[in-house]
Amino acid sequence: MTDTSDGPADAAAPSRAGRPSRRSVIGWGGAGLVLGAGAAGGTAMTLAGGSEPAEEAGAAVPFHGEHQAGIATAVPDRLHFAAFDVTTRDRAALVQLLKDWTAAAARMTQGHAVGDGAFGGLPEAPPDDTGEALGLKPSRLTLTVGFGPSLFAAGRFGLERRRPGALVELPKFPGDNLDAARSGGDLCVQACADDPQVAVHAIRNLARIGFGRVAVRWSQLGFGKTSSTTPDAQTPRNLFGFKDGTSNVSGADRAMLERHVWVPPADGPAWMAEGSYLVARRIRMHIETWDRTSLREQEDVIGRDKGEGAPAGKAREHDAPFLKAMLPTAHVRLSHPDSNGGARMLRRGYSFTDGTDGLGRLDAGLFFLAYQRDVRDAFIPVQRNLARNDALNEYIQHVGSAVFAIPPGVLDEDDWWGRGLFSS
Ligand code: HEM
Repeated sequence: MTDTSDGPADAAAPSRAGRPSRRSVIGWGGAGLVLGAGAAGGTAMTLAGGSEPAEEAGAAVPFHGEHQAGIATAVPDRLHFAAFDVTTRDRAALVQLLKDWTAAAARMTQGHAVGDGAFGGLPEAPPDDTGEALGLKPSRLTLTVGFGPSLFAAGRFGLERRRPGALVELPKFPGDNLDAARSGGDLCVQACADDPQVAVHAIRNLARIGFGRVAVRWSQLGFGKTSSTTPDAQTPRNLFGFKDGTSNVSGADRAMLERHVWVPPADGPAWMAEGSYLVARRIRMHIETWDRTSLREQEDVIGRDKGEGAPAGKAREHDAPFLKAMLPTAHVRLSHPDSNGGARMLRRGYSFTDGTDGLGRLDAGLFFLAYQRDVRDAFIPVQRNLARNDALNEYIQHVGSAVFAIPPGVLDEDDWWGRGLFSS
């Protein structure tokens, strides 16, 4: 894929192929004009000549870096997550797919259309880009790729010896009611953005590029982030109405990220250094039952109060919790690092509502996403504890599950997702 539209002049100029890029179309769309590659640096230059934080501008999040974006970066409000089965048996075709995906992701996250764009090309061929994101801002789109355990199976792509020890299949937890059709996957792509159309466009175009090499196994749309990586921002609320993400690993806390989220080189394998591991769980929340539960019981179940979000017996949201003031079955008490040998993870989940279930109940819940250095020391022990004892279990059920190794970031234009895994 050739980039036809980089540089500060491109907002006004047509691309090399004579077609405006998605970003140049954006440029004429209104006051929030994003000019050139400067947007990728974290601030968007506006026509007025000022600069505003990427947070507010719907700007571009840098694609290249030591770590993949979409983990420690600020959490935008919309998600489209897709798990893929690799349908080709040809290793070279899989490698080419990852290169093609990387090139497309580098463009889409910066607000460009895929390849030569959505219109103006050969009338006889389908356009490179599907077009529905034309005129939209980059919207802090991040695309994060992962590799599932099944990709490393013997007899597939010769990767069985490269499988990280930490990429274990999750055990069956008490109460799990997992739907195989909503679980697993050889590959995953997490698309987060301020604008749902931008996230959906990204997954759709990656699926389209992958035609004949991968097929979508399952996907999940999410809205209303339930955790944030920016502790100074207002804590979002989940569908039970409680603040969620109060006590989370902050995306700005380097020491915590290094200790609990990024894989250090010493953990091995070498290709996973600076990567992470992702657990995805589709958790159905029985909204109607919860809504008939008294406020006192709701607060006892969580271990925090509903209004302020303060831990039981404390006044303010960010007061340190006194775990013994909570019921032994309270969710916060059971999930707290002090109850789990210090285990921590970076939660980054979203609420979902997929209509109703045929019995008049909302098919709604939490699409739980958590990044960690090693699932064996984080999600697995914490979820074991929760699955056995959490009072919340009366109101929730885990119905989908997947785990992925998240490789490190793409360093520059010559690099691609998974290069370390497939090289040497
Ligand atoms: C639908 C399911 C769930 C709901 C509604 C829920 C809700 C909450 C709420 C309201 C809090 C308190 C605010 C906060 O600090 O974020 C919390 C904390 C937490 N939850 Fe969950 N949660 C759910 C599932 C899970 C799962 C599956 C895990 C991990 C296995 C988990 C791990 C945690 C952790 C680690 C904390 C922070 C505890 C602390 O350090 O104080 N949660 N959750």
